Amino acid sequence: MIAEESPGQHLTRKNFVIAIDGPAGAGKSTIARHLARRYGLLNLETGAMYRALALKALRLEVPLEDPAALVRLAAETSIQLEPGDEENRVLLDGEDVTGQIRNQTVTDAASRVSVFPPIRASMVRRQQEMAAMGGVVMEGRDIGTVVFPDAEVKIFLDAAPEVRGLRRYDQLGLHPPKQPEEVIRDLRARDERDRNRADSPLKPAPDSVLLDSTNMTLEEALNAAESTVNAWLARSSTIDKQERNQRSIPPDQSAF
Ligand code: DC
Repeated sequence: MIAEESPGQHLTRKNFVIAIDGPAGAGKSTIARHLARRYGLLNLETGAMYRALALKALRLEVPLEDPAALVRLAAETSIQLEPGDEENRVLLDGEDVTGQIRNQTVTDAASRVSVFPPIRASMVRRQQEMAAMGGVVMEGRDIGTVVFPDAEVKIFLDAAPEVRGLRRYDQLGLHPPKQPEEVIRDLRARDERDRNRADSPLKPAPDSVLLDSTNMTLEEALNAAESTVNAWLARSSTIDKQERNQRSIPPDQSAF
């Protein structure tokens, strides 16, 4: 008798990928973190890589509109993402820059450097290498379309811009440096750039599950994401069983 395979085994195997894409403020990080914990996967935030490169460009005053200079910079830059409890620790040339990449200047710069194809190509290669280590939840803008077009599970997470902006505003703490309208305006400007760039624009992969969290509580969104993964697991274990059954048919009967 063949032992039952636990569904969890699918997830920890090499190259298993849950891709989560969507615009800023849709809740990708929260959902990615939750799924990574729930299924024992590595959580990788690709936006942090563009942010780290942007931070280095700002520090060295490399013009953000000069692709050749940015490509040279990227070639001599090491960026590592280390899994942490709440977010990835981001190492830029070995220096921990986790606390320095979330301000508005770096946020805008990251969106600007990410439009250039050679910069994207170098980040995509690094991201593909990272996932070869084991099962991952990877979040970004182009994970299901470009980085892992064959990802096992693809979720495109969206929400109305006003809702995303207000969620971001609520995260700014007791003394927000900006008005809610300003946060919504910045977010729309970044959306516009991320969705309309020529190379790998933000868009849902045709085979992704669309999850609109506009009218969902956090718990509902987490449950919906988990259901999507569980549905894939159920499908894949049925297919596995069918394949095993086919393999166990003795050769002399298989002609029928
Ligand atoms: O996810 P984030 O907000 O940290 O991403 C910052 C910027 O990086 C975002 O405006 C666009 C870019 N980005 C990208 O182009 N592709 C990704 N896979 C992730 C982020």
